[in-house]
Parts: sequence; structure tokens; C-alpha cells
Amino acid sequence: MKKYNNGEFRLKDAGNYFEVYGWVNKRRDMGGVIFVDLRDRSGMLQIVLNRDFLKDDFKVAETLKNEYCIKAYGKLEKRGEGLANPNLSTGEVELIVENLEILSECDILPFNVYEDTNINENISLKYRYLDLRKERLQNTIMTRHKITSSIREYLNGEGFLDIETPILCKSTPEGARDYIVPSRINKGSFYALPQSPQICKQLLMVSGFEKYYQIAKCFRDEDLRADRQPEFTQIDMEMSFVTEEDVMNNTENLLKKVVKDVKGIDVPDFPRMPYKEAMERYGSDKPDTRFEMELLDLTEILRGTQMNVFNNVISNGGIVKCLIVKNNGDKYSRSDVEHLTDFVKIYGAKGLAWLKYDNDTFNGVIAKNLEEEKLELMRTTYNITNNDLVLIVADTPKIVYAALGALRLKLAKELNLIDENKLNFLWVTEFPMYEYSESEKRYKSCHHPFTMPISVDKLSDYENCTAKAYDIVLNGYEVGGGSIRIHDPKVQAIVFKELGISDEEAQKKFGFFIDAFKFGAPPHGGLALGLDRLVMILCGTENIKDVIAFPKTQSASDLMMEAPSEVTLEQLKELGIKIDVEEDNE
Ligand code: AMO
Repeated sequence: MKKYNNGEFRLKDAGNYFEVYGWVNKRRDMGGVIFVDLRDRSGMLQIVLNRDFLKDDFKVAETLKNEYCIKAYGKLEKRGEGLANPNLSTGEVELIVENLEILSECDILPFNVYEDTNINENISLKYRYLDLRKERLQNTIMTRHKITSSIREYLNGEGFLDIETPILCKSTPEGARDYIVPSRINKGSFYALPQSPQICKQLLMVSGFEKYYQIAKCFRDEDLRADRQPEFTQIDMEMSFVTEEDVMNNTENLLKKVVKDVKGIDVPDFPRMPYKEAMERYGSDKPDTRFEMELLDLTEILRGTQMNVFNNVISNGGIVKCLIVKNNGDKYSRSDVEHLTDFVKIYGAKGLAWLKYDNDTFNGVIAKNLEEEKLELMRTTYNITNNDLVLIVADTPKIVYAALGALRLKLAKELNLIDENKLNFLWVTEFPMYEYSESEKRYKSCHHPFTMPISVDKLSDYENCTAKAYDIVLNGYEVGGGSIRIHDPKVQAIVFKELGISDEEAQKKFGFFIDAFKFGAPPHGGLALGLDRLVMILCGTENIKDVIAFPKTQSASDLMMEAPSEVTLEQLKELGIKIDVEEDNE
């Protein structure tokens, strides 16, 4: 077995003989002497292939190319005067090789491994095993391991049991589309891959396991984004006899330990913010609190204005909010603001009104039309000063929050307002019990239908009923979410009724689950952390693919394995499935 890590050799080891293994990261041929950076997962060691020492093996050395896998034996020596490489952890030493063996040759590479240049993603994903050799990806995958180890250590120490739950199961209630798997034995029937282990982990509480966790694979067939994968991993937890406070404290302590173990940082206690406040101040239920630029309310200031764009919205029950870009107004020309207008339109806003404050006066089209006293009230209320830009959206709260929430993030990036070194955790609490689905024209669960309301009496008040549900947010990403569950079948029945789920439908979908609660179910609650997102943020990348060994593309395919792919007619026949080719070609 390989005994030494190439990246760990130091001056104190000089004078001894070692057998080292690894890949040729790069070679420099000086004629008679070849220098090779020999890489393994721990780092790099310079090995010296000298004709005088290698004798016949030098012929082998001359055939070396990048990414050949080799074995070398020789004496570790201090590098000559002035030849140390301060950029390398092993930079003070080098191995003078006496025996060299090529273990494996390497074909022409589709891309260089020793440098992390921007290559076409389709190529890097097709050759993912090579891309993973790069230092950056080696580091993220090793950090992921550190994080899961730290998590296991914490949860094992707290008495949680690691219990696996099935992958072939029935539809789970997380609200995305299911991946389904046809059954051969029961033709015409399908398994669903779990969107999360939600149902099973609650049943494990009914079984009396009290504290459960699992590093669980979850599958959701939904539109993909930079922080979403169709197949992802959760740190899934459930506990019996707990309050919201218990679940949140447990998660907070877990995350504090992870950050300490991985980054060596002590994070302070996590602040908490009710959902409503998060929406009003940041236009988001996952606010990035690393910078200010909050949404400011103009509804009351502009109530009764002669400007119809605002007045009509306000009299119809809508709101007006703005962002103030402090002391950066000069960075935004008229055409820049037009681009920002196009941007907010993506989120349903009809427009973006703007004002610039310069030379102690407001400029811009609406400055001419807005009453003087309204402008003055805006200025004094929000302390608007020279070189400020005010960006205003008037609409329903939903559209205003979506548009300004997204614009806030875009501006912060453009203006470099975010301190990338910060790790800002935040609990968002008191989520609504229901949310209105425009497409289905009905109220649906905001979390899932097994979430306990804060007050059972409020269950019919769709707009104001809040839930014992909480999300954990880190730097503007939702890294986890959970709730206290309903354990009383009577309350569950009311919730189903309010959601328009009939007894028959509930019985068909979750009958086994509802039945279980008739048999002495303990009060319980839990939470799941999105492991990939957590690793992504702790590794300082914005691309979830960077922290998953074999990720999928935006169109949910694995370019390396070429999955999904066609199956044979025999396989389909066995499953009793016929593909409608015509529809497929449409
Ligand atoms: P939720 O649906 O909020 O809760 O998921 C928990 C966390 O999982 C992560 N996540 C994802 N990460 C990558 N790609 C995705 N497609 C994806 N979807 C979700 C997020 C999210 O916060 N059963 C409940 C938990 C509970 O109530 O205990 C659940 O799954 O970081």
C-alpha cells in the first residue's frame, strides 16, 4: 500500500529514502534532468529524474507525459540554495529518483488537469473523473467528507440513530414532481423515488426511535438552477418530545460545530426573523443579510398622490416599496436603469420608477410629477443624500417583494456590496401555513400537509394562519427547513379538509401514514439540511455541481454515463410499457 502523502514531505524528512506514487502533474525537461511535479490527493512533490541516478530507467523517464500514473523510489533531499519553492508545501525538498516505474499511461487529454481554466462544461462533465483530479474539485469533495464526518460525529454524540429508509417508495409530499420507477412484477404500477424521507422518518418516531438521522438521497423532478440538482442529499433529522426551540437549538449547535471543524470559525448565535418581516425588509424568505439595502416602504408617503401609477395601486390594496442605492447613483445611467426595468419585469413588475438625488434636488421623470411635499417626506424619512438612486416598484405585495428582492441581490453583486468572507446564518420562523397557487387557483401547504399550525383555531384563516415551521438561511441560500408535525389525527383531518384533500384522497395517498397516528404517536418535529448547498457555501462556490462528485446538467442528464438513455424493447416489454413515439417526436 502507498505509505506516504506527497504533499506532506518536509525538510525534517530529508536524507531518507521513500517510495512515492502519483500522477505527473507537469514535467519540465532540461535535457539530462527532468523535473516532475508528482501529484496525489494530498498535494505535490517535486521529483528529479536525473540520467546519472536513473541509469537505464532514464529512457522510461523520457517517455513520461502529463497524467501518467507512476511509482518512484529515491532519496529525499533539501533543494539547492535559492531553489526552494515557497508556493508549494513541500517546496523545500525534492526526491532524487533512483527507480522509476510507469504504472499506467495516459492518452491525449481532453483538457489540462494541472490548470483550472474555463473549459466547456459539457466536456468537463463528460470526463468528470478527469475534472475531479483538479485541485479545486479535490478540495471541495474532501471538504464535503469533512462536513459529513463532523455532522455524523455531532449527531452520534447526541444519541441520534442513523437509519436508512427506502428509495423505492410511494410519492412523498414535498410538492415537486416525482421520479417514478416502473414495476416489472406489478405491471402498470410504479414506485416513486423519495423527494425526502419525510413520511418514513415520522413513522420511525411512531416506532419509538426518538432521535433519527440519515444522510439521505432525495429526488425531485423540478426545474434546475445553480443551487438545485434533481438528485441531492439531505442531512435529515427527526426527534420526538421536542419543541421548535429544541429542533432549532440542535440544528444550530450542529452547524456551529461544522463551521468550527471545517473553517475554524466560531459563529455567533443565529438571529431569528419571522417570515413576514423577512419578506417586508428583504423581499425574500431567504434574505442575504451580509449587506443592508433593505426594501423601504413608500405606501403611506405616497397615499393620495396625484400620480396614478402609485395612487391606483395603493387604492387597490397594493403597496409601493423602494431600494435606495446609497452614494452610487452616478454608476447608473438612464440606459442602465432601463436594463434594471427589464430585469424587474421578469418578476412580474410592470415597471421600475426611479429618482436620482443630486445637487440637493431630485431628478428623473417622476420627480417632475410627484408632489414636492411627498418628495421631501421621502428624503427626510429615509435620509436620502446626494448621489443616491431610488428605485421604486408599485404592485401587489407578492410582485413587489419578488421584483425588489431579486433587484436587491443583483445590485449588491454589481456594486460589490457583499463581504464574501462573512457567514451569515439566519432562522426564518413563523412561515405561513398555506400559500395560494395561482395555477391551481387554490391554497396549498407552504411546507407540507403534516406541519403543525401555531394555533389550531386559526386553520380556516388562510391568509394569516402561521405554522410551526422554520428555515435556516445562510448567506441568502435556504440551507434547511423543518417543522413540528401534527401528531393528532383530529388536527390532521382538519388540515386535509382545509387543503381540499378529501378523506378518500388522503386515504389513497397517505392512508398507511394517517393510520399510524392512531397508535400512540409521540409529539415530534425535525428538519432537513441541504448538504450540497451547505458544502457549496462553505467551499465558497456558487455552483452546486462543484461539490457533487457526479452531478447532472441543467437538463438533468449525466453526460459521463449518458443517462437517461433508451432501454431495449425487451426491457420495455417486460415492464409492460409502450413508448408513444409520435408524441415523443412532437
Ligand atoms: P425541504 O423541501 O425544505 O424540506 O428540503 C430541505 C433542504 O434540502 C435542500 N434542497 C435541495 N438542494 C439541492 N437541490 C434541490 N433540488 C433541493 N431541494 C431542496 C434545501 C432545503 O432547505 N422533509 C422536509 C424537511 C423536514 O420538514 O424535516 C424537506 O424536505 O437546502
